Amino acid sequence: MDLFEAIEKRASVRTYDAVDVPEADLLKIADAGRRAPSGANRQPLQFIIITRAETLKALDRLQASFATASAAIGIVADPQVSRWWLEDASAAAENMLLAIAALGYASVWVEGTLIKEEDFAKELLGVPDSKRLIILLPIGKASQETPQADRKPLEEILWRETYGSR
Ligand SMILES: Cc1cc2nc3c(=O)[nH]c(=O)nc-3n(C[C@H](O)[C@H](O)[C@H](O)COP(=O)(O)O)c2cc1C
Repeated sequence: MDLFEAIEKRASVRTYDAVDVPEADLLKIADAGRRAPSGANRQPLQFIIITRAETLKALDRLQASFATASAAIGIVADPQVSRWWLEDASAAAENMLLAIAALGYASVWVEGTLIKEEDFAKELLGVPDSKRLIILLPIGKASQETPQADRKPLEEILWRETYGSR
């Protein structure tokens, strides 16, 4: 799938049908995260591939999406390595979401429901206390076609040369 098609097709999907996600695809997705830019190229991130059914079931405590996901990827950041760890994690997450869409799978950026349960999820995944488990991406096959949520029209948010000028 072409990049612009993936950007248009990517949408938050929260319920999945079971699908086989080959290791090669999981590695492609993780590599897309690795290739994202990071502040001063400090690269404070690590990724966790999750495929065990019991771990995915346990993550249901964050949100139900994980119970139907066939796999997931966790983004772990070390705030001691870079002050831009959150921006870096966000760039990696979007790269991975586009890779997931391009490969024909569906996902959703899970951060809001993770923050409240970060200690639980860190313990479940063995993440050291000093690091942050900031974003999780469930991966599955969309159980129904899901359009991207509504966006403000470009004309409403786009200016030319100076703010406020069309
Ligand atoms: C920082 C951030 C945190 C998010 N956290 C969650 C979350 O915890 N659970 C969830 O279901 N969706 C979460 N989302 C997904 C957004 O709700 C979703 O991207 C937004 O509603 C737009 O929908 P779309 O992705 O289909 O375009 C998050 C997105 C971002 C960027």
